[in-house]
Amino acid sequence: MPEADREGERYAVDQPQQTPGFYLKGSHQLDWGMKNRMARVFDPRSGRTVMLAIDHGYFQGPTTGLERIDLSIVPLLPSCDALFCTRGILRTLIPAQCQKPMVLRASGGPSILRDELSDEQIAMDMDDAVRLNAAGVGIQVFIGGEHETRSVHNMTRLVDAGLRAGVPVMGITAVGKTMVRDAKYFRLACRIIAELGAQYVKTYYVDDGFETVTASCPVPIVMAGGKKLPELEALTMAYNAVQQGASGVDMGRNIFQSEAPQAMIEAVAAVVHKNATPRQAFELFRSLKADAARATANVAAE
Ligand code: 5RP
Repeated sequence: MPEADREGERYAVDQPQQTPGFYLKGSHQLDWGMKNRMARVFDPRSGRTVMLAIDHGYFQGPTTGLERIDLSIVPLLPSCDALFCTRGILRTLIPAQCQKPMVLRASGGPSILRDELSDEQIAMDMDDAVRLNAAGVGIQVFIGGEHETRSVHNMTRLVDAGLRAGVPVMGITAVGKTMVRDAKYFRLACRIIAELGAQYVKTYYVDDGFETVTASCPVPIVMAGGKKLPELEALTMAYNAVQQGASGVDMGRNIFQSEAPQAMIEAVAAVVHKNATPRQAFELFRSLKADAARATANVAAE
């Protein structure tokens, strides 16, 4: 096995990467169609996005909170910047008159019934993404996983197809059950994904050194939500991520499994787009939740 070079240490986190002529990191030399699709996902006013991730069914079926997407998610659409979903859900449940940009899950294979989830393939043709007017596609990349090479190759094939069509690819750092989740791992995974052509990366937040993950990745990073946390903790995580260089979030369970999903997505948006502190965002969450409870009680009383 070749000896690996030592990982670098000079991340210069206080010197933002220059993006002459366009507001998004690493996107300034893309073609017009790519840029336009990126600009549909990342709000040009803040340079950030609140993407709502609801693709979980692609390997685990009717996940808690996603049993009835028509009832639980469609009402949230006006509050997100983009939706991350499968083409099956898009065609069956998302109203075609919806103007929100859609980022489509483009990998799949093993279900939750299997121990090894890294055995994925490309699960959607780029032609279909274009047919569906997608603003982007997303794919898992299992760096260090059993099927690492295949998942990297899946992504690079998708990137080639995306470049032909003008559709950005979001590479997702997929962490196996046994993988260490630290900044060193995510620096490696995010950088490989960007080097091999993804236009943006979805990855997890880590408490220690996340700013080095964003600084060493030349394309925008969106923070994955992960397992459901208490709302204040999830808002704190999102706040820390954007303050440390993330260009927004692609969050699922921490929104749709919240006891008040509408209030939670508004609170996340305040953190992402308005730099609200976790405490301010949590207060917003509590007051919107209380308003919603009052409105429900009034309807029940009528
Ligand atoms: C896993 C994924 C998802 O399936 C999903 O988008 C996760 O979202 P969350 O963790 O916020 O519920 O991309 O890597």
